[in-house]
Amino acid sequence: MRRFFIIILVVLATCHVQAAKTDISQLTLEEKIGQMVQLVTDLFGTNDAKGVFHIDKTKADTLFSKYKIGSILNAPNTCAPTAQQWEEIIGDIQRLSMKHIGVPCLFGLDQNHGSTYTQGGTLFPQNINVAATFNREVARQCAEATAYETRAVSVPWTFSPTLDLGRDARWPRIYENFGEDCYVNAEMGKAQTLGFQGEDPNHVDEHHVAVSLKHYLGYSVPWSGKDRTPAYIAPALLREKFFAPFLAGIEAGAHSIMVNSASINGMPVHANHELLTTWLKEETGWDGVLITDWADVNNLYTREMVAKDKKDALRIAINAGIDMIMEPYSVDACVLLKQLVEEGKVPMSRIDDAVSRILRMKQRLGLFQHPTQRLKDYPKFGGEEFAKLALEGAAESMVLLKNEGNILPMEKGKKILVTGPNANQMRCLNGGWSYTWQGNRTDEFASQYNTIYEACCHEFGEENVRLCQGVTYNEKGQWWEENEPDIDAAVRAAQGVDVIVACIGENSYTETPGNLTDLTLSENQRNLVKALAKTGKPIVLVLNEGRPRIIADIVPLAQAVVDIMLPGNEGGDALAGLLSGRFNFSGRLPYTYPSEINSLTNYDFKKSEESATMEGAYDYNAKITQQWGFGTGLSYTTFEYGNLQVDKEHFTKDDVLTVSIDVTNSGGRTGKESVLLYSSDLIASMVPDGRRLRQFEKIELQPGEKRTVSFSLPARDLAFVGYDGRWTLEEGEFVLSIGRLTTKVVCDQTYTWDTPNR
Ligand code: BGC
Repeated sequence: MRRFFIIILVVLATCHVQAAKTDISQLTLEEKIGQMVQLVTDLFGTNDAKGVFHIDKTKADTLFSKYKIGSILNAPNTCAPTAQQWEEIIGDIQRLSMKHIGVPCLFGLDQNHGSTYTQGGTLFPQNINVAATFNREVARQCAEATAYETRAVSVPWTFSPTLDLGRDARWPRIYENFGEDCYVNAEMGKAQTLGFQGEDPNHVDEHHVAVSLKHYLGYSVPWSGKDRTPAYIAPALLREKFFAPFLAGIEAGAHSIMVNSASINGMPVHANHELLTTWLKEETGWDGVLITDWADVNNLYTREMVAKDKKDALRIAINAGIDMIMEPYSVDACVLLKQLVEEGKVPMSRIDDAVSRILRMKQRLGLFQHPTQRLKDYPKFGGEEFAKLALEGAAESMVLLKNEGNILPMEKGKKILVTGPNANQMRCLNGGWSYTWQGNRTDEFASQYNTIYEACCHEFGEENVRLCQGVTYNEKGQWWEENEPDIDAAVRAAQGVDVIVACIGENSYTETPGNLTDLTLSENQRNLVKALAKTGKPIVLVLNEGRPRIIADIVPLAQAVVDIMLPGNEGGDALAGLLSGRFNFSGRLPYTYPSEINSLTNYDFKKSEESATMEGAYDYNAKITQQWGFGTGLSYTTFEYGNLQVDKEHFTKDDVLTVSIDVTNSGGRTGKESVLLYSSDLIASMVPDGRRLRQFEKIELQPGEKRTVSFSLPARDLAFVGYDGRWTLEEGEFVLSIGRLTTKVVCDQTYTWDTPNR
């Protein structure tokens, strides 16, 4: 009998599963600190002979039983497993987490443009393309489908959307966010947050996931143009433009925010109490989780040199407002943070605040009830419905920049040469964050989709399409390396064709590996276009690139130019359908396309940034040059604007202006048009922006159809942040413009206020 009891006790002890601990008061100090630490999957796995990752249960056991780790990130080996493999991996993690801690694990993944990290999932256009659609529905629907596919593999958290303002074309992450304008980033960020999380942030259901807005704040304009290096941004500009998309995301219910790896104005953002706690948490009342970016606590003492060692770095970051540390390889933080609390250097109240936020997020995701989902309950994973969304989104995002003599659309039956390094690769259509971090193995995983060449064969008939690339990327080298070109072969292949489709641009990259030394497109590629132009055949330039590379010397050689940016797996088909005229163009540039390296600018530049030549001895000038302006985009039809109206000529701070315009499709084809409303503050106490985008709306019109588009514009939206950091709406004249039409309105009085937003 005694032996029987002992056996039962042993069995009970080994099978012991913690009761779920939903309340912070149930956690010990070690358990609380463990919740604040995030590690990578690679720490506790092994790869079998086929390279398939399996959890090493002994290693994993220690992390959860001893260190009480609260969060895990990343795909094993930073490469997409299958959905079934994910089911196994996350299942194991959640069992261990519930068994040893009684709190489910928060697993986070960069699902940046669809199922980045799951084989067989859907890859949508990158965010720069989503911005080019100027269609909030595309943003929302792609995010919602991504959320579905992410939750299908039991991952409840994506490190998306990216809301940095892509205001410097040199920066390698331009394609990950929604272009240079803060209003476009705010609107698309809001749409994606709602798409990912659903309408009720308090209950994120089994088809949605939590977002992480990133990278807070001012990450995108490093002084050197290189990733993760210091930025210098005037405080007023930080508040007025860089903060705006994050505020919009918070208002839409964003559950977490990831911090900028670098420094602004000399202070690493991970150490900046004012930005992390005052602006983000105290002023707005936001109750979500603030997570570091990759190893950024360590960077405070290894790179930024504001801390003497790891413990010091932890003290600074946690006291500044960090709630979760993306370590990602070490458990040191668990030990050091406990010491800091015991020594009184990090107050217990700060730990409790951070852990309450983390537990709240886990609750809102329903993880305590359902730490995992069943893949078989997600029949739409990687299916037709999402492929159609991806195709339509891609087609709506491509921008027609030039179409001399209406060379496009191309009639069926024309003989076409498809050439250039981007003509026949899935890798460059998708860019980074595609199956792997750098996107360099995409062709292994996406062979079922069509490259540009393959899609042209389907669209125009294989017998009409010829492939000769002339320039190719060195797939075994760095992303920018090219093989010895064979331009003569491409020139020879052009004999006998009617049109040359030259697919140029960049191979895939992201983050620091994507840094550049020269924004000008490679010499080989420009030489290819120059040589082909000599054949006298018309050239359609297809720009397939993550950021606008300078091509001023070859633009005049092309009859048509299409910027397809990074349209994803359906991008080849979308482009072929546009070239043939089966689809119509409706994308517009979400950034200013530069034409010279010393004139990198944005659409909202100030009048004073450009000066004409003065008379006399002092004859200098500063010209702003642009290849194509923000918002440029042609269509196969034409639109006419008329009757711009505003309901009030004079307004006060609390008024809402109703601005309306008639838009007519004056061409012969159905088309979509993005109607963009700008404002200009004519005279202000701080040098005013030349113009600012205030609203946009996309409409579809049949030939001959006319529609009145109406915008409700709160007068507060016309305010700027003054030198004293206060929002300021000054008396005086404002010009409102849509297309070439303008109208004036007058603010009768000056107002200032200091809430975080307008
Ligand atoms: C990137 C983030 C990403 C994180 C996790 C970092 O290097 O900057 O954007 O979310 O890694 O993968």
